[in-house]
Amino acid sequence: MDDDKGPGREVGVGPHPEPWPEDPRFDPALLAEGDRRNVEDRFRYWRREAIVAHLDADRRPLHVAIENWSHDFNIGSIVRTANAFNVRGVHIVGRRRWNRRGAMVTDRYLHVTHHESVGAFAEWAASEDLPVVGVDILPGSDPIETSTLPTPAVLLFGAEGPGLSEEAQAISTQVLHITQAGSTRSINAGAAAAIAMYEWVRQHT
Ligand SMILES: C[S@@+](CC[C@H](N)C(=O)[O-])C[C@H]1O[C@@H](n2cnc3c(N)ncnc32)[C@H](O)[C@@H]1O
Repeated sequence: MDDDKGPGREVGVGPHPEPWPEDPRFDPALLAEGDRRNVEDRFRYWRREAIVAHLDADRRPLHVAIENWSHDFNIGSIVRTANAFNVRGVHIVGRRRWNRRGAMVTDRYLHVTHHESVGAFAEWAASEDLPVVGVDILPGSDPIETSTLPTPAVLLFGAEGPGLSEEAQAISTQVLHITQAGSTRSINAGAAAAIAMYEWVRQHT
């Protein structure tokens, strides 16, 4: 399923009027049947591979990683936001299976990599020369609003419940928090990831 139909509302476009464009990026099946996918209008009727290739040419030097110990429903939301900001890669650390529900099929347009353990993830980050920036509200963490985020970088988020594991904290070159002022200990991991990605983009655009 790669559509986004809500009740009473049809998203996208119907069949393309003939004659059809000859550009190989266009998918004959979509031209014939219409394109109801959750993609920007500039990509209407494009083959998925053509969209990925187009996005690949312009990915930001930012990766995001999330610890996955409990089939966290936030991971889908993080993937969707990572797609929106065109990050270079999403990394699932821990369990291989992740909850795709909130991703709205956006994972098909970016690169998702699984790492069995925090150690394996740390090895990959070192091999890519990427500093790991832990993101959590922890004693000793610094406010993200007044910190300089490195370029390139990988932002590492903890699981709902336990938060960033001790091992994850240990491999982070710094741990940053989003400043809060209410009574709750933390915000939703998907919301935190969106704010942190936006802050990286804000500093690097
Ligand atoms: C629900 S929180 C984890 C629990 C939290 N450490 C605690 O003590 O309650 C899950 C994840 O969301 C992210 N998160 C939530 N609130 C945050 C905040 N204010 N600043 C940065 N990250 C946050 C972090 O990545 C965290 O690991």
